[in-house]
Amino acid sequence: MKTAIYPGTFDPFTLGHDDILKRALRVFDEITVLVAVSPAKKALFSKDQRVEMIQEHLKDEPRAKVDSWNGLIVEYAKKHQINAIVRGLRPTGDFEMEFQMASMNNNLYSEIDTFFLPTGGKHYFVSSSLVKELYKYGRNVEDFVPPAILSQLTNK
Ligand code: COA
Repeated sequence: MKTAIYPGTFDPFTLGHDDILKRALRVFDEITVLVAVSPAKKALFSKDQRVEMIQEHLKDEPRAKVDSWNGLIVEYAKKHQINAIVRGLRPTGDFEMEFQMASMNNNLYSEIDTFFLPTGGKHYFVSSSLVKELYKYGRNVEDFVPPAILSQLTNK
């Protein structure tokens, strides 16, 4: 079975993330959406809230699992015997950082490789922070987040 991890902060999970996940599921049999901690970011939603929101959104997609992790992604990968990481690439400056992260992860655990998908044309300009900012200023963000996430944003 071909398995992969799709890690991210996902604060919140957007339709851009969903696009990457669904396209990657055409190649991998099972993907774990891994809510990870980015030390530099102050999250709006707790880790558990993010997991619950994504689980609700993916409840009809049995090949997508959702989990969270506080440590290095490679440690999770080793523990679960997964050797692929999926990441989306936007044409807005992602490449350098992604290349560095993929190389470091491979250096830490030589069994692991990162598979990049170009972010779909409809989503290349989306980011979780921009969604939160638009929402804060009263704009409708339904074009950018799945319905299960939108309802939780409303609660916030
Ligand atoms: N569509 C829409 N938005 C997207 C997107 C897509 N396809 N891909 C990324 N984004 C957005 C994200 O929402 C995020 O927005 P934000 O900065 O406003 O929150 C931004 O682009 C950056 O996302 P991403 O590159 O996925 O970074 P991240 O902060 O979500 O995740 C981790 C980074 C969690 C994967 C990384 O910090 C990590 O691996 N941490 C664990 C510790 C570890 O192993 N470190 C060693 C790394 S070598």
